[in-house]
Amino acid sequence: MDARVIIIGAGAAGMMCAIEAARRGRSVLVLDHAKAAGEKIRISGGGRCNFTNLDIQPERFLSQNPRFALSALKRFTQWDFIAMVDAAGIPWHEKTLGQLFCDRSANDIIALLLDQMEKAGARLRLNATVHEVGQSTDGRFQIESSAGALTCESLVIASGGKSIPKMGASGFGYRVAEQFGLPLIETRPGLVPLTFAEQELAQTRPLAGTSVQAEVACNAARFSEGLLFTHRGLSGPSILQASSYWREGDALTVNLAAGSDVVAELSAMRTEAGRVSVKNALARIIPEKLAAIAVAETGLHGNLADQSNAALEVLGARVHGWRIKPVGSEGYRTAEVTLGGVDTDALDAKTMQSRSVQGLYFIGEVVDVTGWLGGYNFQWAWSSGWAAGQVA
Ligand code: FDA
Repeated sequence: MDARVIIIGAGAAGMMCAIEAARRGRSVLVLDHAKAAGEKIRISGGGRCNFTNLDIQPERFLSQNPRFALSALKRFTQWDFIAMVDAAGIPWHEKTLGQLFCDRSANDIIALLLDQMEKAGARLRLNATVHEVGQSTDGRFQIESSAGALTCESLVIASGGKSIPKMGASGFGYRVAEQFGLPLIETRPGLVPLTFAEQELAQTRPLAGTSVQAEVACNAARFSEGLLFTHRGLSGPSILQASSYWREGDALTVNLAAGSDVVAELSAMRTEAGRVSVKNALARIIPEKLAAIAVAETGLHGNLADQSNAALEVLGARVHGWRIKPVGSEGYRTAEVTLGGVDTDALDAKTMQSRSVQGLYFIGEVVDVTGWLGGYNFQWAWSSGWAAGQVA
């Protein structure tokens, strides 16, 4: 079962690389310990796979070297992937913010990749766990797997990150990098719900299930999207996005009524209908339970007509500039991605090949390149897989 190219991981990056390498006439074998290929694609985007974004920009990727991703992203773009999807007749739509989803199901994307792999002649071996890799003196790689011992000329590590261990995430690729002396950037969960300490939870727990259109700022990053209160803290797209920029000890500044001006709207209501309670007035702008908490916290009582401009300003500041310090995140159990990984300094940006070990490639999530929520991570998987597939 030897092959010229062995790819460890039949996820988005590994399958794309397999297609490209096999099209060049290389004999390609993809190994994956899962029962089926593309398991993360299957569950992604709520089952509809947000497969790319119309607005791919380098600033939307986190990495020690934010320019590293540029080469691959420019050589195999979102338009190239959309062309593949269109050629396969897969219907899709833009949901919001340039995010493209399948109309039917994420299975369409998996079927597309498997079909192209087969047509190109790449082989796939499932239920095959890779335990060890090594290199002999002649430069060939040796692979110890549950499918037996294998050798190859080019070894592509496409084994993903640590997120969702229940689905087979193993951290295997980081071990291979370390074994071959490639540096790692410390890993941490990204695109993950954030959690509160008991003190904050006592206040926010009754809000679990409530969502608002928010603007969340964390360090230099700012995201205007939905926010969801949970039993453990906060989630929703704006929080997932901010979580990738959040470190322990950091506070978030949350505008709980993005797109509204609480002071101006309450002032107008005060003139027109001042006999409403301040809480009920605020509940016309934000969800009632949240309005009740904000009003209670600012200590305001009575009707809107009783409130001074200064009092409305205090309430406005509470709603538009809520400062909150999460204590942690839900961790890899629910994180969509792993930040950090194989240091890009150790890789060639054009080919994804190790600078120090010829024939060894790292692609996809295992590399220290992490995209925003919204199709950016799959685009990185397609682009980096494609780039390695041109040379491996
Ligand atoms: P991926 O993790 O997909 O594949 C790695 C493969 O390697 C797995 O199949 C695994 O079984 C295998 N493997 C690991 N160790 C092995 C070993 N030792 N031996 C053999 N096989 C091994 N992104 C996006 O752009 N749009 C979206 O809609 C979503 N949605 C989403 C939802 C959820 C719930 C999650 C968890 C993640 C997303 N993502 C996303 C992120 C996206 O899924 C992720 O970035 C890519 O799947 C990464 O692709 P890779 O091919 O690098 O790894």
